[in-house]
Amino acid sequence: MIVSTKILFKHAYKRYAVGAYNINNAEQIMGLFRGNLESKAPFIIQISKGARSYTDKRLLEAMIRAADKIFPDAVYAVHLDHGDEAACMDCIQSGFYSSVMIDASHEPFEKNVEITARVVAAAHAKGVVVEAELGQLGGVEEHVSVSEADACLTNPKEAEEFVERTGCDSLACAIGTSHGAYKFSGSQGIHFEVIEEIARLLPGFPLVMHGSSSVPADEVARINAAGGKLKGAKGVDEAQITRAGAMGVTKVNIDTDGRLVWCRVHREHFRDNPENFDLRPPGKVFQAEYAKYIAHKNAVLGSAGKLDEVRALL
Ligand code: G3H
Ligand code: 13P
Ligand code: ZN
Repeated sequence: MIVSTKILFKHAYKRYAVGAYNINNAEQIMGLFRGNLESKAPFIIQISKGARSYTDKRLLEAMIRAADKIFPDAVYAVHLDHGDEAACMDCIQSGFYSSVMIDASHEPFEKNVEITARVVAAAHAKGVVVEAELGQLGGVEEHVSVSEADACLTNPKEAEEFVERTGCDSLACAIGTSHGAYKFSGSQGIHFEVIEEIARLLPGFPLVMHGSSSVPADEVARINAAGGKLKGAKGVDEAQITRAGAMGVTKVNIDTDGRLVWCRVHREHFRDNPENFDLRPPGKVFQAEYAKYIAHKNAVLGSAGKLDEVRALL
């Protein structure tokens, strides 16, 4: 059942975080629904602009509608990831998305406010909720000074003003993480002091962490052993993700880890079965392995086992 993130976030706030997983194809959708049901977790299925054009946005939408029938017990939100204004408006009008993200974080503050407020007005008129972003995502190198680090991270006072002026429903904050498989060069990690201050200024307001993949070392090692060349790949420590959830990070975005599972399964399969050219054997393994990954991640987030409680609220 497709629900609003509002319900999910209200239940989760400071108790656990909801996993927001990117999907592009049928195999990911099947693994995602299975993994969430096996771990009894509510979740967010997120679709980027790239995913909407990889095959066709209508195909993705139809596959999710089909999954909804195959897995009638699933409770999840459908969310546009990193939308621009045009993509947000398209998703709001479609009636399919329960949530959109307007990412105008590359714009100056005033312009970001202006664009986000326009999307919020259109979305709220249709009962759609809006995630916005403030700050520049990116790993903060160990050698940079505190003032240099502050320049990339979300400014808590600005976050308070931004939420007040835009009316957005959740906020993606730059807290030291970055997208992709190469997040940190050393022992850097999440800037908890930034989360703490934003949560203090905006009590009860759901915060979102992008770039939350853990880039598991064993996954990277297996990929490299099967011919991959992912040198120095590093992600977010899982204990830090759990801690962020308890502090007000209510949505945790994960894409890269799913791609790593896909890469490992296919590299190992074709290395070990050089005579095979059929897509279905590795595709089957991927669905099962992705489901296993999702169930594990939900245990880390604390969303595992919360499905019945959330369903009781609907
Ligand atoms: O934050 C970006 C997500 O990982 C989506 O990636 O734009 O390549 O689909 P994508
Ligand atoms: P990762 O690249 O760490 O998986 O982050 C994904 C993300 O933030 C999607 O919006
Ligand atoms: Zn992101």
